[in-house]
Amino acid sequence: MAITPPPTAHIIDGNALGAKLRADVSRRTAALQARGITPGLAVVLVGDNPASQVYVRNKVKACTDGGLHSVLDRYPATMTEAELLARIDALNHDNSIHGILVQLPLPAHIDAHKVIEAISPAKDVDGFHVASAGALMVGQPGFWPCTPYGCMKMIESIGYDLRGKHAVVIGRSNIVGKPMALMLLQKNATVTICHSATADLKAMTLQADVIVAAVGKRNVLTADMVKPGAVVIDVGMNRNDEGKLCGDVDFDGVSRVAGFITPVPGGVGPMTITMLLVNTLEAAERDAAQRGLA
Ligand code: GUN
Repeated sequence: MAITPPPTAHIIDGNALGAKLRADVSRRTAALQARGITPGLAVVLVGDNPASQVYVRNKVKACTDGGLHSVLDRYPATMTEAELLARIDALNHDNSIHGILVQLPLPAHIDAHKVIEAISPAKDVDGFHVASAGALMVGQPGFWPCTPYGCMKMIESIGYDLRGKHAVVIGRSNIVGKPMALMLLQKNATVTICHSATADLKAMTLQADVIVAAVGKRNVLTADMVKPGAVVIDVGMNRNDEGKLCGDVDFDGVSRVAGFITPVPGGVGPMTITMLLVNTLEAAERDAAQRGLA
């Protein structure tokens, strides 16, 4: 009879790491406030997408809890593209706002790319602007997208040296997969990006020292696809048949093989919001330095 081995993987706790990083954000925010500057984030929500409403509420609450100033701009789904662009322009010129986040998806009649490109790159705390993507590509200062940035912090938190390691990223989105691959490359990993047209995903993942799963589909990664001791980061946010939150990784199986694993919930999710605060604080610090206030 086959005996199921016990979980061996160390769990990387996103709630605990996020809390530690947010405490640092609060300290740096207090230091800026002592000089009369409060970091400010504007969150823009158009329409009444239920998931988006939850996300923006959480983002605004995290800001307030961290001592940052935040503004939630809610508009009806009938808002025109021109009206939204005018609002972005006003926020670009508002000195009390250091970060601007337009929650996606936007209603179909609004061109999301055009809206993101209208955000000043100095306030692009989501890291979605082409200027931010370009800065990451060439290793210049900019803003890193919050989810892959949070994944990097999780890998850093276990003292893992990526140099010479093989990292496999599953998923090639502009928001997670592609920037994740560039960040891993910047730390001298050898990086493979896998996607829906990859011929033999298992052959790739079995060679990986680090696997980042960012597809948005359950059980993309199972125990038989993982090298013993590998670091597994799960970006997925899905529901199982019982309606419970789960990631892209078969956690029960993979945690018996991997060396480190992130859970869902309580893994990458809390880190994404944390990195939004980090980016907003960073934007305020850069603005203060540029204006000779810091
Ligand atoms: N929609 C889902 N995730 C995100 C995010 O991280 N940023 C924005 N702006 N919209 C999203």
